[in-house]
Amino acid sequence: MSKSRTTYVCQSCGAVHALWSGKCDACGEWNTLQAEQVESGPPKGLHSGSGSLKKGKSLDLVGLQIEDQKQIARMVTGIHEFDRVTGGGLVPGGAILLGGDPGIGKSTLLLQAVCSLALQGLKCVYVSGEEAVDQVRMRALRLKMDHAPVALASATNVRDIASTIDQNEIDVLVIDSIQTMYVDSVESAPGTVTQVRTAAQELIRITKRTKTATFFVGHVTKEGQIAGPRVLEHMVDTVLYFEGDRGHQFRILRTVKNRFGPTDEIGVFEMGEKGLSEVPNPSALFLSQRQPDVTGSAVFAGMEGTRPLLVEVQALVAPAPYGAPRRSVVGWDQNRLSMILAVLEARCGMAFSNSEVYLNMAGGIRITEPAADLAVAASLISALMGRPVPAECVFFGEIGLSGEVRAVSQWGQRLKESAKLGFTNACIAETVSSQKKTSASYSDMKVREIKHLDDLIHILREGIV
Ligand code: TYD
Ligand code: MG
Repeated sequence: MSKSRTTYVCQSCGAVHALWSGKCDACGEWNTLQAEQVESGPPKGLHSGSGSLKKGKSLDLVGLQIEDQKQIARMVTGIHEFDRVTGGGLVPGGAILLGGDPGIGKSTLLLQAVCSLALQGLKCVYVSGEEAVDQVRMRALRLKMDHAPVALASATNVRDIASTIDQNEIDVLVIDSIQTMYVDSVESAPGTVTQVRTAAQELIRITKRTKTATFFVGHVTKEGQIAGPRVLEHMVDTVLYFEGDRGHQFRILRTVKNRFGPTDEIGVFEMGEKGLSEVPNPSALFLSQRQPDVTGSAVFAGMEGTRPLLVEVQALVAPAPYGAPRRSVVGWDQNRLSMILAVLEARCGMAFSNSEVYLNMAGGIRITEPAADLAVAASLISALMGRPVPAECVFFGEIGLSGEVRAVSQWGQRLKESAKLGFTNACIAETVSSQKKTSASYSDMKVREIKHLDDLIHILREGIV
């Protein structure tokens, strides 16, 4: 007879431990281990008495060619920022995880998406485990989408939802959120790794069979009381994260994984009174509040997936009153800032060690590209020297440990976007000469190639680019 025993499961990465400890050895997160009951003993039914595998039924083997063209037709919401991120629309049977902090706007985004799909005649079902039907209706009213024929339900039992999927021909299903769902044959509480995994597995199995495109909303929590979306990432086809600073109205939808399209794409939205609206030209938005002639401000011409994005990098260097000086970063990698400060100190003789350094990507955006190094260095040098960076100039390039500036990809697109927004100068890494084609879209720009950080310091000191 099988007995139940207690194991400790990390709610962030799903690693199983025999004993409780404060830190998960697998992912390094603190306070994420939670007790869960598991049935011990051999798995039921797989082995026959003699130890060899029981006979299964033979599989139906099929060819590679798609038999029904309808299966690859994508479902397009018409919200361009959303469609680009999903790789050009939803795929029948595709499972999409939408992760993000509570209150960031996941429910709002998905309600808007399914409303526009429903208005095209697709059968859309929205199952909320968090809100009552009337609350979802009130949100639809606020979004002025209450006329859309979306079928609503408030439910948390996976068995009931599974029957509903089986009995209705659903095109698009939203499960909001997966952490509220439970499978009644599993003993753990809703929100634990075991429940979240089992519920998602069960729902994905059914929706793949019925060719229903399914969104799973997954809250990200730092405290680890509920399982994070991490444990689901490998089970779904597409992983999207909705991020943004709650103090700002911008929200960024980012593709982390996509079996049906490119990753690293972003969609930019603005949260307003009537829900989320698209931001077709995010560069203009991110630069809109830039002040000219301020020290420590440099514009980075970045790429997010296939799309160029201009962002203002701000740095502040202040005297450290006592002890170890602070280094604080918002929207960028702390280690990368330390590296650039070390390179500026060791290779170029700039003294930051007695100063506090603050770095901020303006507008609440998070940048992950190493190509931002050059713009970060420019803002740091400008802040330290107390001289503004020429306002009409953009920067991009990766910095190496000897202070050399390395080439980055897609420089043509970066320049094109900069020219479009009225920038006349660019300081960029040296590019391979075979790539040097001048395009009419940025031929008026003065492009300066920078080999080493010393050249950048020289340019900023002289104030001419
Ligand atoms: P919500 O979609 O409920 O977030 P999540 O599902 O990720 O938890 O969005 C919650 C926030 O968005 C809430 O603070 C209110 C705000 N909001 C607006 O500002 N305008 C709107 O039109 C709507 C619907 C929400
Ligand atoms: Mg919600």
